[in-house]
Amino acid sequence: MAAVWSRRCLVSLCCFLLFIVVSASVTEKILQVPLFEVGELWLSAASTLYGRMVQIVTTVPDFSQWTTYVYFVVAAVAVYGAYFLFLKPLDRVRKLGDLGYIAEGSFTAKETANFVQKRRKVGNIPPVYPNGWFGIMESFCLKTGEAKTVSMLGLNLAVFRDEGGVAHALDAYCPHMGANLAAGGRVKGDCIECPFHAWRFRGEDGKCTHIPYSEKIPDIAKVKSWPVVEVNGWIYLWHHAEDVDPTWHLPEMEEITKGQWVYRGRTEHIINAHVEEIPENGADVSHLSQVHGCIIGAGIDLRHMWTKRWAFAQHNWTAAWEALPEPESHIGQLRLTHSISVFGVRLPFFDLSVTAQQIGPGVVYLQFESMFGRGVFVQSLTPVEPMMQKLVHNIYVTWTMPIPIAKFYMLGEVERDIMIWNNKQYEGRPLFVKSKEDSLISRHRRWYSQFYSENSPRFTFQKKSLEW
Ligand code: FES
Ligand SMILES: [Fe+2]
Repeated sequence: MAAVWSRRCLVSLCCFLLFIVVSASVTEKILQVPLFEVGELWLSAASTLYGRMVQIVTTVPDFSQWTTYVYFVVAAVAVYGAYFLFLKPLDRVRKLGDLGYIAEGSFTAKETANFVQKRRKVGNIPPVYPNGWFGIMESFCLKTGEAKTVSMLGLNLAVFRDEGGVAHALDAYCPHMGANLAAGGRVKGDCIECPFHAWRFRGEDGKCTHIPYSEKIPDIAKVKSWPVVEVNGWIYLWHHAEDVDPTWHLPEMEEITKGQWVYRGRTEHIINAHVEEIPENGADVSHLSQVHGCIIGAGIDLRHMWTKRWAFAQHNWTAAWEALPEPESHIGQLRLTHSISVFGVRLPFFDLSVTAQQIGPGVVYLQFESMFGRGVFVQSLTPVEPMMQKLVHNIYVTWTMPIPIAKFYMLGEVERDIMIWNNKQYEGRPLFVKSKEDSLISRHRRWYSQFYSENSPRFTFQKKSLEW
């Protein structure tokens, strides 16, 4: 860490010196004064500025003037605005109905979300909970000694962090009389204690280790313990319909775990779609110019983004997707380039070169490079219900990248996709034409099918009751 900081100090000092040299020579040229006089000019400007600052700070405000209050309000707003823009990590949470639905008649977008959900034909969909690692929650959401109830992948889980700091996920219901272990249960050592009669269950294997009023503990007194790993700022759970142990692992990103890159925020979206729709977007290169071509300022509503007002600028994309060979066949890789052009002229500041690795069905590490530095989006996609997904992005960037720029990247354009996903049906038999673009989607579907197995849960109940 010390080495990182000394490197940063050195780079900052070099930048400062470079700034002085360049600005002194520019000043010399523009003002037509000898170089040594530039120094004098600088000193006098700095001392005037210093004098003004001291005057402002030491003057007692005149509270009989209403303008004083106006100044205070303006200053407070400016300070908060600067904090919000330059220091506070982004935390953008959008629930179902917040975006991606078109309000019908006198109904709100949220009410419309309910109608669309109920009446939508689900289509001929694949199983709803694929096999693989899925994010339970970000590490910072679970403190030592804390327990939380979590519903995902059709499971009800008691997730807790034991007193040694290790995270565990157990089936939530106590085998004694069915209390939910995390709804009031307390962490004791490496166990969680049921809130009802105080039976204790070990996080590692789910075994009951203590019953307060019985010496004998039946062998069958246990709950299922799910494989859990904690890496890259996330607690992940391994889900497999055949109860197979993890067949691959999530790679550690040292830039995150060793603190080389800085956390700049998160976004969270709830999406009403089949889980496969979201990764499939990565292989769908022909939607990029259609959905993501209009400049970001034109907004996320697909109906209005074609406005002429924003037609002077656009995003340009190139993309290529491939499945990696064994032993990494569970990884799909997308290479992407992005630029922005204004009146047909490309602005180099916004060039991005991206490599996104889709690691199984639930995790993406999307690394990018820009002229401001490098970074990674950590994407977690977890089915909350058969047709409801929680999509979370975290961003980590090199310290050289200005925070507003990192936030700008975060506001990327997944929200336009959400309007498509929320309103579409999964098309089991798509009408593809002979083309490189459509055949890539077919390839993605063949690749993705490895995450389904014989007993993968299917969406049957609602299909029967809602499709007519
Ligand atoms: S229900 Fe859990 S100890 Fe009785
Ligand atoms: Fe997209």
